[in-house]
Amino acid sequence: MMLHMKNISIEFPGVRALNGVDFNTATGRVHALIGANGAGKSTLMKVLSGAHDHYTGGIQLDGESVEIRTPAHAQKLGIQTVYQEVDTAIIPSLTVGENIMLNQTVQSLDNRHWMNWKQLFKQAEDILKGMNLKLPVKKLAGELTLAEKQLVLIARAISSNCSFLILDEPTAPLSHTETTELFRIVRDLAKRNVGIIFISHRMPEIFEICDEVTIMRNGEFIVKKETADLEPQQVIEYMLGRRMEDQFPARSNTLGDTLLEVAGLSDGDKVRNTSFYVKAGEIVGIAGLVGAGKTELCKALFGASPTVGGTVRLNGKELKLTSPHAAVKSGLALVPEERRKEGVLVAESVSSNLSAVSLKNFSKLFGFIDRRSEKNTAQEYIKALGIKTPSESAKVENLSGGNQQKVAIGRWLLADADVYIFDEPTKGVDVGAKRDIFELIAKLAAQGKGIIYASSELSEIVGITDRVYVLYDGEAVKELATAETTEEELLFYSTGGR
Ligand SMILES: Nc1ncnc2c1ncn2[C@@H]1O[C@H](COP(=O)(O)OP(=O)(O)OP(=O)(O)O)[C@@H](O)[C@H]1O
Ligand SMILES: [Mg+2]
Repeated sequence: MMLHMKNISIEFPGVRALNGVDFNTATGRVHALIGANGAGKSTLMKVLSGAHDHYTGGIQLDGESVEIRTPAHAQKLGIQTVYQEVDTAIIPSLTVGENIMLNQTVQSLDNRHWMNWKQLFKQAEDILKGMNLKLPVKKLAGELTLAEKQLVLIARAISSNCSFLILDEPTAPLSHTETTELFRIVRDLAKRNVGIIFISHRMPEIFEICDEVTIMRNGEFIVKKETADLEPQQVIEYMLGRRMEDQFPARSNTLGDTLLEVAGLSDGDKVRNTSFYVKAGEIVGIAGLVGAGKTELCKALFGASPTVGGTVRLNGKELKLTSPHAAVKSGLALVPEERRKEGVLVAESVSSNLSAVSLKNFSKLFGFIDRRSEKNTAQEYIKALGIKTPSESAKVENLSGGNQQKVAIGRWLLADADVYIFDEPTKGVDVGAKRDIFELIAKLAAQGKGIIYASSELSEIVGITDRVYVLYDGEAVKELATAETTEEELLFYSTGGR
């Protein structure tokens, strides 16, 4: 079956999110949809899946016009979606089986049919078997890992008639093994003549799994090509509209004295007896696979866990790791990994988010907030991070996923701390914005700040850090000078090599 989206446009207050976009693909193909943060990828796919009803333009299936204005209609036509925010789509209090069969369950209840539970679980089991997955159908979905939840959502999508499956950044929270598993399922579905539309900011994945590519920029269609006819460098050029030289900024740092000294940090079995130090002006990497304990380590250091042991000294003074509030007061800043949950207030404006951590900078005498300087600073950071927003007063929830991340990073850059902890800061951001983030981090280091950079992207660890600790199973198993190591060596220690 052929899918044609023709001349699609859509507007939101102050933003023309899509401007005459064409999108063509077919069943049996894996199609990458690529573009910088805010390019319009999610919006285009929301049009296709019936989540927006106020677009203009036409959609055709096998040459026949279809009028998609509701999710129910899109699903009836065989268009299924797994959105960027997995947690909102899973119902934690229902079982895996019920979650998979959710659409059918709702339908049969609507029609006042009795549910046949035995049959429901049997069908769910069959679907999982077809995907070659072993998940207990009677387990509560709330008890699953994030990756498992994602697989359940895919199972739900293909539980009913599915010609096209939209996966919006499915791999962002997944480990390498989990991604491999997902790709096996994607290939399998394509073989069974499902069309997959795949959104990702990880360039290698596109070349690994996709047959063809559509690139968007600024709400417009730029090009459609076979993956085989493209080079990564070309993709970046089409995306950004310019060449990008190096992904990482050049740095020439003179390191100062030891700023942060951590001894025997532990938190149950999530963080185990870990010691490290950071000098002024130094970027120290915490490398490790997804699940190695990087986030737990960052949180322990930031006072966000009640069960932490060990000592932390900043400028020689011992800190009490009792709360994030205390951590901020003593000069630490953490850009958390789960930014939508912990990093931003989505219902607030961009500028109040940016100033939230550093309100003292904007409070004049008697505690009034200086709105004008808040606005100016917000505009400065919007520019520095290339945050795509109609204005500093726009609500964060209306920004694209990647631009929400940039707001979360920006607010902590404004915090004026001594040591900045970044937990997977580039997750979900496009290559151009990654470069901007690296530049800001390098600038902080050049100002004599200490940086902790936790990431499972080993290329980034090699590209941006001075020294690195490899975390394995909650423990720092190896310390290396970045200039003397390679991604291969980091991977060796990350996977438990000794
Ligand atoms: N409901 C909405 N209200 C206002 N603006 C919106 C809304 N939905 C999307 N936009 C705007 O449309 C543009 C495109 O957003 P979209 O989410 O499609 O980007 P994206 O390509 O998916 O980016 P990312 O890679 O960051 O996920 C952005 O400028 C965004 O702010
Ligand atoms: Mg998106």
